[in-house]
Order: sequence, then structure tokens, then C-alpha cells
Amino acid sequence: MKKEIIIQFVLYMIFFLSGCTKSSTGTIQPGVIWNDIEGNPINAHGGGVLYHEGTYYWYGECKAGETTLLPGQNWECYRTNVSGVSCYSSKDLVNWKFEGLVLKAIPDDIHSDLHPSKVLERPKVIFNSKTGKFVMWMHIDSADYSKACAGIAISDTPTGEFKYLGSHRPLGAMSRDQTVFADDDGRAYHLFSSEDNATLYIAELTDDYLGHKETYTRNFINKFREAPAIFKTNNKYVLITSGCSAWDPNEAEYAVADSVLGNWTVMSNPCTGKDADKTFYGQSTFVLPVAGKTNTYIAMFDKWEKTDLETSGYIWLPVTLSRDNIEIPWKDEWTIEIEY
Ligand code: DGJ
Repeated sequence: MKKEIIIQFVLYMIFFLSGCTKSSTGTIQPGVIWNDIEGNPINAHGGGVLYHEGTYYWYGECKAGETTLLPGQNWECYRTNVSGVSCYSSKDLVNWKFEGLVLKAIPDDIHSDLHPSKVLERPKVIFNSKTGKFVMWMHIDSADYSKACAGIAISDTPTGEFKYLGSHRPLGAMSRDQTVFADDDGRAYHLFSSEDNATLYIAELTDDYLGHKETYTRNFINKFREAPAIFKTNNKYVLITSGCSAWDPNEAEYAVADSVLGNWTVMSNPCTGKDADKTFYGQSTFVLPVAGKTNTYIAMFDKWEKTDLETSGYIWLPVTLSRDNIEIPWKDEWTIEIEY
């Protein structure tokens, strides 16, 4: 009898402890390079975060090595060689484990989109629950940015390795700065700066997320908006963009709509506080909904160091929501509280 009680107690404790949520509090210092859990600087620029089965995966451009200025351009075409797309994982959004390059450069094929001499920017990953595939979309370009294409890669697991499927101009249109957005009804959308960055296209992806349906809209026509970062809150879509000034900072702007495809109503600069008119010297890349929390979003920006792109930092700030507006106030330091 005693033995049974002990066994029951042990089983109860195992059940109780395994069901417990952990909570973590960490400090975020916007604007600096952060280290991963091994003490190495996180190298995931122009990136986005996917939450999948209890873990956050941060994908971004691995910008490694020397930054060079491409001669003969009428703009400051600073670039690093392509190394690939890096991935970091975390349960608490503070401690990040490097999962490796989940899409690697292909140094021995000069014709490949993934050759180091090309451009690979702003990778974003979404999960397709119908196909079970992780789908990565990215900006693929030639060194002088004249190719203006979107690339696609897929994987069975969030940490890859992703298989590169190729690049094209979506719906025949130029595509540079870009993001993808999976809505809660399973539909997904591709948002990309087109028409030489003058107009932002939004196109619905096919059910497998690997191509475009014919439906698309032209938004912010001739307004030269880049760096799209979209999220949904209270049944409204909110889209943050930057202006178009190469690697230099400019003023952000947000717009709201009842549908991803628009019509978008332009609001204002969401940033407030020190250097808000320059997006805190950053540029939008993604808005991350914090899992399990209502109306909790983190706005992610890159703080580009144009002459040494590898040392570019990250600005993560909480988004404040009021009935019709959003605000992203500057904070030197803030605390993130996560339960997992
Ligand atoms: C601004 C874009 O947002 C970046 O991703 C990058 O393409 C630079 N322009 C290149 O100048």
C-alpha cells in the first residue's frame, strides 16, 4: 500500500512539473549587436521570426566579411558577399541558439543566384500546414540590384537545410524589399517593392505558398516605400514601411487596412522619442506577435552600418496599441516577459 502511494506521488509530481510553464525575463537593448548563447554576435539582418511549436526561429541575412562599394552606380551600392541565410532558435526571445546557415551560398557556380557575388536580402519563412513545408521567400538580386527578383526555398524542418527552388519576377514585376505574411485563415501574401521601388505590390500566394495567384494590388503608388513589415491586430492589418534612401535611415510610416490587399490608409510615423524622424537610425524588417499574449507585438528594425554591414545592429521595440493608432516609443532598454 505504501509503495503504491509513493508511486502515485512520483507520477503526480512528474505530471505536475511537466505541465508547468516557465517564465523568463530578459533585457533588450535596442541598437546594439546581440550575442547568441555561445557569445558570438547574432548575424541575421533584414530578418523575420517564425513561431513554431513552442520555439521562435529568427532567420536573417548572414552578412559576413568585407563591405565593398560597387563602382559605377549612381547610388551608394555597398554590399557584402552572400554567405547565406542564418537561423537562430529561442524559447524566450532573449537567449538565441545558432542553428547554422539554413540556406548556403554556392561559391562554385557563378551563374547561381546564391553565388557570393550576388545579393540575397530580407529572407522570411512561413509554415504551410497543408503541405507541412517551411517556405522561405527572399530578395534575390545581381550585384548592381538590376535583376530585382524573388527567390524561394523550402524545407521539411524549421532549421533546414532549405532547398533552393529558384527566382523570378513575381507576376512579371520587379521585386526587391519584401516580406511574406501568413494570415490566420491559412492564406498567405507576398509584399514587395516593385516598379523600381516606386510602388509596393501585394499578391496572394498559391495554396502551397510557392507561387502567386493572379490577384495583386499596387499600393502607395510612386511613394517609394521599402522594408515592409506587416501584422494583424483587432481584425485590422497594420503595415510599417520605410522610405527609399539606400542604407541610410529615413522616416518610417504606417498604414492600416481591413484587408491585406488594401485599400491602405496612410497614418503617420509610428516612432516616437529620440531620433524618431530617422526611425532611431533603423529600418523596419518585421513585426513579431508574441505567442500566447494578446495584442503584444515587437517591432524589429535593422540599424545598418553601411560601410561595415556585418556590424549592423538590431532595434527591437514593443508596439503600443491604442484604439486607432500604433506607437513605437524609443527605449534605451526594456524587459521582455515570456511564458513558455
Ligand atoms: C534598402 C533596403 O531596405 C535594404 O534591404 C537594401 O536593399 C538596401 N536598400 C540597399 O541599399
